[in-house]
Amino acid sequence: MKNYTHHNNELRKNHINENVYLKGWVAKKRNLGGLIFIDLRDRFGITQLVVRPESPSYEEASSVKSEYLIEAKGIVKLRESVNPQLPTGEIEVDVLELSIINTAKIPPFTISDKEAVSEEVALKYRYLDLRRPLQQQYILKRSEITKNIRHSLEDLGFLELETPYLVKTTPEGAKEFLVPSRLYHGEAYALAQSPQIFKQLYMVAGFERYFQIARCFRDEDLRSDRQLEFTQVDIEASFVDQDDIMSMTEKVIENLMKLLNKNIKFPLKRMSYKEAFDSYGSDKPDIRYELKIENFNDTFKGFEIPIFKDKVLRGFTLENNALFTRKYFDKLTEEVKKNHGDTLAYLKLENGQLSGSISKFVNATIMKENTVMLIIPGTYDGSTQAAGAIRKTIARDLGMIDESKDELLWVTDFPLLEYDETENRFYAKHHPFTSPKDANELKNNPKDALAKAYDLVWNGYEVGGGSIRIYDQEVQMLMFETLGFTEEQIKEKFGFFVEALQYGTPPHGGIALGLDRIVMLATKTENIKDVVAFPKTQSAKDLMMMSPSKVDEVSLKELGLKVE
Ligand code: AMO
Repeated sequence: MKNYTHHNNELRKNHINENVYLKGWVAKKRNLGGLIFIDLRDRFGITQLVVRPESPSYEEASSVKSEYLIEAKGIVKLRESVNPQLPTGEIEVDVLELSIINTAKIPPFTISDKEAVSEEVALKYRYLDLRRPLQQQYILKRSEITKNIRHSLEDLGFLELETPYLVKTTPEGAKEFLVPSRLYHGEAYALAQSPQIFKQLYMVAGFERYFQIARCFRDEDLRSDRQLEFTQVDIEASFVDQDDIMSMTEKVIENLMKLLNKNIKFPLKRMSYKEAFDSYGSDKPDIRYELKIENFNDTFKGFEIPIFKDKVLRGFTLENNALFTRKYFDKLTEEVKKNHGDTLAYLKLENGQLSGSISKFVNATIMKENTVMLIIPGTYDGSTQAAGAIRKTIARDLGMIDESKDELLWVTDFPLLEYDETENRFYAKHHPFTSPKDANELKNNPKDALAKAYDLVWNGYEVGGGSIRIYDQEVQMLMFETLGFTEEQIKEKFGFFVEALQYGTPPHGGIALGLDRIVMLATKTENIKDVVAFPKTQSAKDLMMMSPSKVDEVSLKELGLKVE
């Protein structure tokens, strides 16, 4: 039972002359020629109330202020001047009775999408910030998306199961949060980086299809698409191979795209990691725009250019643009250097005039009139990565990105291992339980071995990643050997898990979707904080609670800790 008759985005022309009972917060109050107009707001929208001087509630209405919570009974009337901005803009409610349910302090900022508020203030009063219609839309969309995904997975026969947050360490890359034990001084739990091990154990236990909307904790440096705690739609299934997981995930994504009214073609495109890196300099390419990385070694053959000597040359040819000034090239050069390229060389051919950082070494015949050439010397990996970085900057600055478009694709065939030159050893690129595509390759040529691993990429963001896991014990041992683990180390690092895999483990695999990033892309915001109700700042702080916070002596003592 609702103890109001309509929410504030419900009344239309067809309700004229109905008696209604509304509740909400005062978004705005104006007094015009004795008439009091109140914009009443709830999470659905805004309805205009009008209180006439002859109304018995006129005095009460006069005393309301911004963000007071009020209730009003009245009759729906046609408005004299329609407000086309508001869905309820054709009507207003002529108030018979109005009362204040609760007063409010003067808010630290006006609650409206039009007022700019600093992040500091907005997050300190996040509960008020969340009253802003746009912020409400983000959070409501998040709820809708979560519900949609949950339904899809239930329809696919997945069980929603939980896993512990207080765990030992998991074999994933990020730094962990430690939770000191009160009972066992000097010992700690780790907050789960992901449910990885437990979802695999569910498969060992025979649950066959698992999902969880799980919180994950990673003590990483924050970026605009990262939080310390974030939410994964975590999925695992038995008796599957890579294509099965990918097509189940696509079912979920297809339903989601329908909800979002996005016209995406399924099955989704697939691209190997090798192609993604070679053409776009990234394992999460944004393919809404072309701009592929070119090879320039042939172009500069025969020219003696000191910085190009024995280097791989990669980069772009672009049409000349007013953007391409000396200052802009300097900015790009900085970015190249930060992203493992040696430096950036550039050439411009404008009205037959060749200019640019290496113009004295070459002649104009190597390029077309009115173009710009950007060349990054380096190693193949370094210059490609740097080209990938400036590719994004250039696309944004030249307005090459069609923001109304969405491009989703799978990136597959990741390398299984990464070789660390300084330590002279292999590391697992994903984790040591990721299955190789071909066990013989792992044995004979580990450097080139590929993984049954896949990432889902949406407009240049990684929104999901997963793999088929190793279930064959020989392959698992081979993997550990390749990684250089001794028997002792295997026991110590993965003891119980390796033990568990020896009890009739089914073939299995899974994926985890980054829910926050999905909501971020669905709502077209570029800041993950917008779609997290109570986020941490870039500097890892909760400005409302003011956490992290100092721990008092008593608690430290109880935990057996000393602060250095
Ligand atoms: P992975 O580490 O790739 O895989 O994480 C899966 C997805 O989670 C999202 N994500 C994040 N979102 C916000 N903030 C973060 N700090 C953050 N880190 C990751 C990304 C990413 O694609 N256990 C494996 C999954 C598996 O193999 O099944 C895992 O956690 O969208």
